[in-house]
Formats: sequence, C-alpha cells, structure tokens
Amino acid sequence: MFPLDRRTNTPQTRLEALPAAVTTAALSTPGTTAAAAAGWAGKALLAIGNVLVPSSASVATKTLRVTALFVTGLLVVSTKARRRLFWPGLTAPENTDQELLPGGLGCPFMGSPWVYTSSHESYGAGNYYRKAAHALAKTVGYFPKIWKYYVFGQPFAVLSGGKTFQKILNREFDGTLSSAGVDLMEGGLLPTESLLFEKSKKRHQYLRKLVGSALTPTAVAKTAPLLQKAADEQIVKMEAAHNEGDTIRFHKICNDYTLDVAWRQILGLELAEEEIPIFEDNVEQWISGIMSLQVVLKWKVEKHPGYAAREYVISKIEERIDYLLENGPDNLSTLSGMVFATDEDDPTKKLSRKEIIDNALILIFAGSETSANTLTNAMLFLGLHPTTWNQMAEEQASIRAKFGETITPSTVDPKNAPYLDAVLKETMRMRVVVGGIPRMAFEDIDVDGDGKTIIPKGYLIDPSMLLTHEEDPNVKLPDGMHLDAIRGFRPERWLDATEEAPEPDKDWYVPYGFGPRYCLGKNLAQLEMKIFLATLARKIEFPKLTMLPENYDYSRDKKDPSSADYFSVEWSTKGAVIPTAGDGVTASVATKRISSTTTNDNAVIVVDNDDDYSFPVLEVTPRGISNSTETATAERLP
Ligand code: HEM
Repeated sequence: MFPLDRRTNTPQTRLEALPAAVTTAALSTPGTTAAAAAGWAGKALLAIGNVLVPSSASVATKTLRVTALFVTGLLVVSTKARRRLFWPGLTAPENTDQELLPGGLGCPFMGSPWVYTSSHESYGAGNYYRKAAHALAKTVGYFPKIWKYYVFGQPFAVLSGGKTFQKILNREFDGTLSSAGVDLMEGGLLPTESLLFEKSKKRHQYLRKLVGSALTPTAVAKTAPLLQKAADEQIVKMEAAHNEGDTIRFHKICNDYTLDVAWRQILGLELAEEEIPIFEDNVEQWISGIMSLQVVLKWKVEKHPGYAAREYVISKIEERIDYLLENGPDNLSTLSGMVFATDEDDPTKKLSRKEIIDNALILIFAGSETSANTLTNAMLFLGLHPTTWNQMAEEQASIRAKFGETITPSTVDPKNAPYLDAVLKETMRMRVVVGGIPRMAFEDIDVDGDGKTIIPKGYLIDPSMLLTHEEDPNVKLPDGMHLDAIRGFRPERWLDATEEAPEPDKDWYVPYGFGPRYCLGKNLAQLEMKIFLATLARKIEFPKLTMLPENYDYSRDKKDPSSADYFSVEWSTKGAVIPTAGDGVTASVATKRISSTTTNDNAVIVVDNDDDYSFPVLEVTPRGISNSTETATAERLP
C-alpha cells in the first residue's frame, strides 16, 4: 500500500512518498545542526517532488511524469544507458561495461558531423582528425594511439602509429576485420566485383595475382615510353601557355597527365584527338560523383551524371576488351595484362569479363587522383624551394649527360636519381593523399592482447595515414613545423639526415598503406610520378608560383613562423579527402626547350637488371600504342 497524501487523501506514488520518507527520517534525528539541515533538505525535496509530480494531477499525468523522471534519473546515473539512447549504434566490448577507447562522442544522435567540413586553410582536408587528436591528447595527457568518434549512428576508431597501424592492417582476412569499402560503397558508383572490395582472402589473393600481373616492376618498366610521351604533352601545353603569356594550374596539368596515363597505359586505348577531352571529362565526372551526397545516400544513383559518365568509361573498356580478344595482347597495357592473365596454379582460370571491367575501373579510380594530387603537391613544394628545384634539375642534367635523352626506369631509380626519389618521398610524407582506408570490426579486437585497448565489434576502424605521418616521433616538431610547406619540406632528410632534418621512422612512413592490401599500383605510381618530375626538371625553368607575394624572399631560414609576416601556404578548404593547395598551384612557367625528338617512339627500354633484358618493341603512335611482335635486347646500363 502507498501512504495517503494528507491534503487530498489520494494514494501517493512511491516517488512522491520518497521525499516524505527522507524528511521524516531526517526530522526524527536528535536536535543537532545536521538534523536541522537534513530537515530543510527533506522539505526542499518534498517541494520539488510536488512541483514535478503535483498531487492534484491525474493518474495518467502522474504515471507519465514518474516515468519521465525515472528515465531521466537512469540517464543521469547510468553512463551506459545514456550512451545507448543518445548515440544509437554505439557498442561496448562484450566482456566489460566500460568504453575503453578515449574520445568524445559529439552531439547526441549526430555525433561529430563536422568531420566532413573542418578543412582548414593552413592545412586543408583531414583537419578534423588532427584537431580532435590534439585536443584529446591535452585532455588525457598522452597522444592516444586509438581513439573514437561518432557520426550519425556509426562509431569510429581512429588509429595511428607505426606498430599499431601495422598490427591492425595485418589482421585483414583473419576474421576479425576487413575492408569496409563494399559496405560503404555498395550501390554507388564504384564497382564492387573488384579486388579493392573483396572480403574473401582466397579470392582477394587470386584477383591480386591476376590484376597485378600487369603491374609488376618488369611489366611497368615497359610503360616508360608512354609515360614520357604523356609528360611531354603536358610540356607542350605549358609552352603554349607561356607563349600566350598565360599562367598554368599544376592541378589541371597533373590531372590531365594521370588521366592520359589512364587511357593510354591502364586501358591501352587509342583515342582520336577529339575524343581525349570527352574521355577525360567522363572519368572526372564519374570520380567526382563517387562521393557526392546523392550517390553516398544511394538516392536515384542512375540519375546522377556520374552514372552516365561511368557507363561511357565502361563502353570504352568493353570496346578495348573486344579488340584485344580479336587481335591478341598489346604487351603493354594493364587491361591487356588482365585479359590474358591466367592463374599459374590453374591455367584454365581467367578473369571474367565483369571482373576485368570492375578492376579496370578500380585501377583508374585508385590510380588517377592519388598520383595527380601527389604531383600537384610536389610542384607546390618545389615552387616554394628554388634550391631543391635546382638540385633536382642538376641531377637530371647530369643523368641526361650520362645516359642520354631517354628517361627509363633505370635513370629514375634511386641509385641514379637519389634526389628525385627524396623529393617524392618528402612530398608524400608531408601530405598523404588517401583520406581513409576504413575497415569494419567483425568482433571485439583486443589490440595488444592485454584487455586495455579494445575496439568493439561494429566499429568502423580508420587507420589514419595522416596522423601516422604527423606523429612520427623521429620528425615531429611541437609546432607542427615538420608539416609546414615552407619550414618542413626537407628532401635532404631522406639522404643525409641532420638534427634539423632527421630521417623519418620507417614504421611511421606509410603512404602506400600496409599489409595484404598494400597498394597494388605502387610500381606504376612511382614510375609515372618520377618520369613526370624528371621531365619537368629537364624541360622547364623554375616555376614561379602566383600565390607568392611580390618580391617574396625564398630563403628558408629568414622566415620565423611566429612573426606576423610569416607567409603560410593556403590550402583548399573545400570538402575533400585530399589536401590541395588553395589556388590549385597556379604558376608562370617558361620552358627550357621543346624537342619532339625526345619522344621515345620505338624506344628501347632498359631496366635495372643483372641480365640482358628482352622486351617487345613498342610502337607509340600519337593515338596510343599498337601491337608489335618484334623484340629487342638491351644490356644493363653501366
Ligand atoms: C600516389 C599514388 C598512390 C597512392 C598514394 C596510393 C595509395 C594506396 C593505399 C594507401 C592503398 C591501401 C588501401 C587499403 O589498405 O585499403 C592502395 C591500394 C590500392 N592501390 Fe594505390 N595508391 C597510389 C596509386 C595507385 C595506382 C597508380 C594504382 C593502379 C593503377 C593503384 C592501385 C591500387 C589498388 C588496386 C589498390 C587495392 C589493393 C587491394 O585492395 O589489394 N594505386 N593505394
């Protein structure tokens, strides 16, 4: 039985009764100050109880209010209940009630949607992770190797740091986690029958072998003449702009170059002059559609312009497959490699037509913007550092004097061009161009096996290359100067480390990822980017960036980052996963000389190999490559 309310003679609920009981108990204590205080407190509680659940209210209202009070009390008292209600989808490790990962969850229900909008002009895209991680480090007193955040129903675990990064990525296919690409992209504009999304270890290995057969160092070495041809075409554009007194945007030049490589080398297409811009526009439209809101939300994807653009690219791939099947391999393009690749364990096994198309699309997607943005960033850093540019140009001049006009895999090898290699490495250390490589936790993952750091099942794991580079203990400077375009860019650190420019820790340098999904296109990417930079170093003068103030003083040491007139590069604040310089790296460029004889028609390709090297003679026409049955032999370079 509940006691009666003395004023109305109605039964009291337990909740109403509670303050009264407290008051009575307090008042019955012998007359001390404490008892008096308790008496006041009891009365106050009783008054609050009456306001919250007035005795005059109907039973229904009272029930509602009591329930609301109960739920509020529960939410105040129980962290677990609070989290479940306000951040649905948030999971905790099975064997513990505690959330073991540090990190804030953001606003109820929404979490931290500003992860998508927090680009910053002094850093660019990806700024949220830096800000959040640094804020957290201040709160917990150390830089956490794994921390969490939450966005619209999905908890994330962000991780960084050499061994932790490697440990987690090495778990791919062990049943505890896998690439989450397909879960995020299914039904969008990326093809899902590709190795990038394959969750089965066996099939992933099979696809990697067959798709990768055209991306081995030997296969890629043969593409050097095509890559140089594509680079030379960009020089022609720069010369035309210079003659007209115009500036160029390196972002456009580098994009055009990598798209050129996509159709010439990856697909092996022979496009007519007028079709080149159509192809390139379609690829750009398709790729930019992949992350558009309409596509990400899977709303009428087939109506998005990126859909039709992708259909166009597929039609070109289909045409080329038909051509190859009729005429045999072209011995060069990645597509041809895929069409004719067989499984060495079972030669009857080949890639299906759908697998070839899906993987060809993935190669274009994975290989174009990544290389284009890396090159754009490289041109920005070089344009800020004339000494670096001159050193790279001098190295190329001496390589040219020694080995001749043709740029080969051997002439851009670190043995012959160590400075070029260091420039590219340093560019990729300063700004990573892959925004995220998400994985899904299928079960609780006890990272170190000691129960202290557990990533709960259902979390999306984001191994952050950006934070891993930023937190590299060997190079990290407290004020972030190791990533500053002016003070931080030091290719020398890769050659002769000094106290001022120390060598990065190998475990913390991961531009191409780690583990079973390590970049399959690294050989092509490296050769493609080095040939571009080597060609520019040979053929253009130091690029004058238009973002720099008049009479800009290039000497690095004169600049004090804490002074008011310190010039800092502005990065694009547009929503993007890849940091790009604010103006797309606009520059005025004079060409040293343009010579059509430098194009490697029927070029001899020399790879750095101990043996004589046999290779097909490739006919490089202005419209692409043609088949050839001839072969030639080259000797190893001195
Ligand atoms: C600067 C240029 C590039 C960078 C920085 C880069 C970076 C990466 C990274 C970080 C991954 C790992 C993804 C993961 O773990 O989920 C990856 C995977 C991959 N990359 Fe690259 N990449 C570049 C160029 C290329 C090129 C030129 C191609 C091919 C033409 C390519 C093809 C691939 C493929 C197919 C994968 C998926 C491998 C797999 O899932 O097994 N990449 N790349």
